Amino acid sequence: MYTVTKLLKTYLWPRRLRLAYLAWLMLFSLAAQLLRPQILRSVLDLSLAGNAYVQVLRGVVLLGGVAVMGHLFDALVRYGSDALGWEATNELRHDLTRHVLGLDMAFYKATNPGELIERVDVDVTRLANLLANFVRHIVINVLFILGSVILLWREHYLVGLIFAAYTAMSLVLVSGVRSITTPYVVAERKATAHVYGVASEHLSTTEDIQSVGGATAMLNKMRREFYAWLPHRTKAYLAYASIWSAAMFLQTVSMLIAVALAVYMWRDLGASIGTAYLIIHYAELLQQPVQQIRMQLQELQRAAASLTRINTLLALSSLAEHQSDSAPLPPGSLHVRASDLSFNYADDNTLVLENVSFNLPAGKVLGVIGRTGSGKTTLARLLARQYDPTGGLLLLGGIATTSVAVKTVRERISFVTQEVQVFKASVRDNLTFFDDACTDQKLIDVLTELGLLDWYTALPAGLNTMMEAGNSGLSAGEGQLLALARAFLRNPSLVVLDEASAKLDPITEALISRALRRLLTERTGLVIAHRLATLEEVDYLLLLDKGQVIEFGTRERLASDPDSHYSRLRQLGLEEVLV
Ligand SMILES: Nc1ncnc2c1ncn2[C@@H]1O[C@H](COP(=O)(O)OP(=O)(O)OP(=O)(O)O)[C@@H](O)[C@H]1O
Ligand SMILES: [Mg+2]
Repeated sequence: MYTVTKLLKTYLWPRRLRLAYLAWLMLFSLAAQLLRPQILRSVLDLSLAGNAYVQVLRGVVLLGGVAVMGHLFDALVRYGSDALGWEATNELRHDLTRHVLGLDMAFYKATNPGELIERVDVDVTRLANLLANFVRHIVINVLFILGSVILLWREHYLVGLIFAAYTAMSLVLVSGVRSITTPYVVAERKATAHVYGVASEHLSTTEDIQSVGGATAMLNKMRREFYAWLPHRTKAYLAYASIWSAAMFLQTVSMLIAVALAVYMWRDLGASIGTAYLIIHYAELLQQPVQQIRMQLQELQRAAASLTRINTLLALSSLAEHQSDSAPLPPGSLHVRASDLSFNYADDNTLVLENVSFNLPAGKVLGVIGRTGSGKTTLARLLARQYDPTGGLLLLGGIATTSVAVKTVRERISFVTQEVQVFKASVRDNLTFFDDACTDQKLIDVLTELGLLDWYTALPAGLNTMMEAGNSGLSAGEGQLLALARAFLRNPSLVVLDEASAKLDPITEALISRALRRLLTERTGLVIAHRLATLEEVDYLLLLDKGQVIEFGTRERLASDPDSHYSRLRQLGLEEVLV
């Protein structure tokens, strides 16, 4: 949970030396700003008193010099504080990304990518602005207001008093208007994140949408989204506009007061024209800090909304974090047992798995078959602890999965899914997941061992061949081969494989069978099989239907029983029985 204080402490405090350096620069730039009207007054009064040309000229040169130096310091402060803000928030981006990556599948199911981008990037950028400008604008402007008021007070206490009161009143009024408008701004940010989310979801499925001719329906849906977005935007902009109008009104009144005071000082108190001008000049200069503080408060408001959303994200914890004590898993290949296992997805009350029981000795391979939607993939997800059972037990090496740390489970299990993710990176990085410790020789050995040497030698640039992100260019068979090689490199104790259900050509099919056989040697395996060839290789069989076990036993026993589903399956072929 981040509060502004914690945020400043975690990300700004380590950079305090640079902050101190920036503070000095800021003071110089401030002094230059405050000094300018004073010099201008002298120049005015000198020239009105008919002084020598040279004296006036000296004043003008001094004025120019101070102005240039002031701007220079200001530029340095701007650069420095922006750099600081970005560095600090890059750390936050990093921390947030790491947190998000540790979250459970249920979170990814409930959050669309656009929303995530909004939070991890847009919201954090807003905080960067806050961190950078908080230092710059708030501090410098408050000091500037104080300095101006003191200098005005020196001219006449009444002038100082009136401007102090007026500036304070302006700030109170502006922040009052601001607090009324906050809810509209928050609502608008939420609506924006939602629209981005929907848009990015549709963009990522453009291919499917086009191929089913859903473009018009999609456009209509987007239009409805945009219409729903509009009132939020309108209200938020009206909110901004009311803050702005209030500020403009205050500015006009301030000028009127300044002119009145200047005239009074000059006519009734015998002040010089230079002094009268000085008062108007400070009044004008005072507008800027009030405006900037106003804008800063507006930013602060946005940043506060962003911070709330970031905190909501951080408050989500994963199964892994809830783990208090974790039992170690026995070494070597793992024994898997399910006992009255039940499961339903959180958003759905129907049981996807119901009283599933089976026992798979270590080192053996279980083939899981069943119609589409029978719960096969769900069973695999429970093993990989992407979800936890809602009833019964699932034991790995005799220990309930729920009492083993998620990290440990994932270290020992390789879960090869139906959808193989390919990164826009080299074949090497795609195999090792960017682990540099893995040597090329080892990779080639693994590819050879899995019977993929031919595939490898056909690659145009060997391990450096670039792959495209998002599966394009890779056939289902090749994808599975890549996934098997990845699994093999991790040397797991249990392999969970959700076989590609697509039809493969006989050559690729033979390659996959061979690689799979090699991968499963001396390892426990749970293979969701879509091909009879795979089933011929397994030791045990589990047939699921609507989440329930229809048949379980050794393949041999089921094969020798002519009445078993498996025997019928072999006679009729997989499709006939299962579909
Ligand atoms: N993430 C999810 N959230 C909610 N329901 C889900 C989710 N994933 C699957 N389901 C539902 O759970 C049931 C079982 O799905 P599952 O993916 O386990 O089936 P499957 O046997 O792997 O099917 P297939 O052979 O098509 O891969 C289905 O009714 C499905 O709609
Ligand atoms: Mg499935």
